[in-house]
Amino acid sequence: MSAGEGFDVVDCIRDKRDGRALTAGQIDWVVRSYVAGTVADEQVAALLMAVYWRGMEPAELSRWTDAIIESGERVDLSGLSRPTVDKHSTGGVGDKVSLVLAPLVAACGAAVPQLSGRGLGHTGGTLDKLEAIRGWRSDLSVDEVRHQLESVGCVICAAGPGLAPADRKLYALRDVTATVESIPLIAASIMSKKIAEGTRALVLDVKVGSGAFMTDRDRARELARTMVSLGRDHEVDTVALLTAMDTPLGRSAGNALEVAEAVEVLSGGGPQDLVDVTVALAEEMLRLARVEADPARALRDGSALRAWREMVVAQGGDPDAPLPRAPHVAPVVAPRSGVLTRLEARALGVAAWRLGAGRTRKEDPVSASAGVVWHARPGDEVRAGDTILELHTEDPSRVGRALAALEGAVLVGDGPVADAPLVLERIG
Ligand code: URA
Repeated sequence: MSAGEGFDVVDCIRDKRDGRALTAGQIDWVVRSYVAGTVADEQVAALLMAVYWRGMEPAELSRWTDAIIESGERVDLSGLSRPTVDKHSTGGVGDKVSLVLAPLVAACGAAVPQLSGRGLGHTGGTLDKLEAIRGWRSDLSVDEVRHQLESVGCVICAAGPGLAPADRKLYALRDVTATVESIPLIAASIMSKKIAEGTRALVLDVKVGSGAFMTDRDRARELARTMVSLGRDHEVDTVALLTAMDTPLGRSAGNALEVAEAVEVLSGGGPQDLVDVTVALAEEMLRLARVEADPARALRDGSALRAWREMVVAQGGDPDAPLPRAPHVAPVVAPRSGVLTRLEARALGVAAWRLGAGRTRKEDPVSASAGVVWHARPGDEVRAGDTILELHTEDPSRVGRALAALEGAVLVGDGPVADAPLVLERIG
C-alpha cells in the first residue's frame, strides 16, 4: 500500500517528522497517490501532523500547492478582453464585502471570477447569501463563467468538483485530525483554488480578531506573507490587506439580511465601515489589474448597482424579488443609558448561526432569513430601553441559545471608545 514509483510513504512521514523538507518527487507522488486512494488516510494524517509541527520550506510549500492544483483542472481565462482580478477573504462576521466588490470592480472595467464556498461555523458563506435571492443559481459551467465574465464582468459561483479535488480530500482529513490551523496547509489550500480558477491577480483580505479565523496579528501576517509569496510563485500578482474583525462588519449577519445591506452599499449608501473596507479592497484590485477608475464614484453613480443586477439576472436570479424576511424578530434592549463599549464579533456570528443562518455539517440547509441586526456600534450613545440588537429567526425556540451566545458580548458603559483602524496593514 505504501510503496510505488520509488517512494515510500513511511519515509515521507519520517522525513517530515524529523524536520527534513520533502522532495518534489515525494510531494507529487504522495498527493497523487492520496487522491487515487493508494495511500491511506492514517498515513496522510500522520504526514499532515508532521507538517503542522515542522512547517514547510518555501519551495516545498510551492510544490505542495502545485501538486494540489495538478490534481484537477486549471481554468484558462487568458482569452478575456478584460484583465482578471479576484479577492479572497479568510472570513468574518457580517462580511458581505464580496457581494459588493465583484460588481463594483466589474463596473470599473476589470473581470472578477469569484469561485466561492459555503459557510461552515460562525462565519457565513457567500453562496448561501446569494441563494437568498429568488432563482439565483451557483452552479455554472466553465463556459458559462467565461461568457459571463465577458458580458457582465463578474461572476460569483460554486467552485466545481474539478477544481483542486486534492484540497477537498485533504481539508476533510485536516478537519478531523486537528491540523486545520497550520499556516502552510491553510495557505496551500486557499491559494491552490484561487490559482486553479485562472485569475491573474488576487487581493487577500486576511481578517484579524475575535470574529476571524486568525485571532492573532502575528499569525495573520505570517499567513498573508505565505499566501502572497505562493501567488507570486504561480504568476498571480497578489497583495494582502490585514483588516480588523473584533467588531462585526456593517449592521447585520445573516444571508438575506446581508444581501439587503450589500444592495444598500451598491446604491451609494450603507454603513461607513463596510464602504471603507470595500473601497480599500477595490482600489487594490484595480491597481493590480492596472485599471484606472474610482470605485467610490462607481458606488455613487449607479454603475456598480447596474453590474450587480446584470450578474444576478445572468445567474437566473430576480434582483427585484423581495428577500425572505424572518417571521420572528426578538429585540435585545440596552439595560442602561451610556455608550456601547463592546459588540463582540464572534458572539454575534455564533448567535446568527444558532438562529439558523449557518450550518454545523456541510450538508445542513441554512435559513435565508435568520440572523442578527445591530443598531449601534462601539462608541455610539444608547438610551436605556433602546433596541440594540434584533434576533431574526424562523423558529422562536432558537432565540434562547442565541441569547446565551451573546452573554457578555454586548456591553453598555460610560465610554469613550477609542477609534480602531479597519485596515491594519498591507502586505505585498
Ligand atoms: N479556507 C480554505 O479554503 N482552506 C483552509 O485551510 C482554511 C480556510
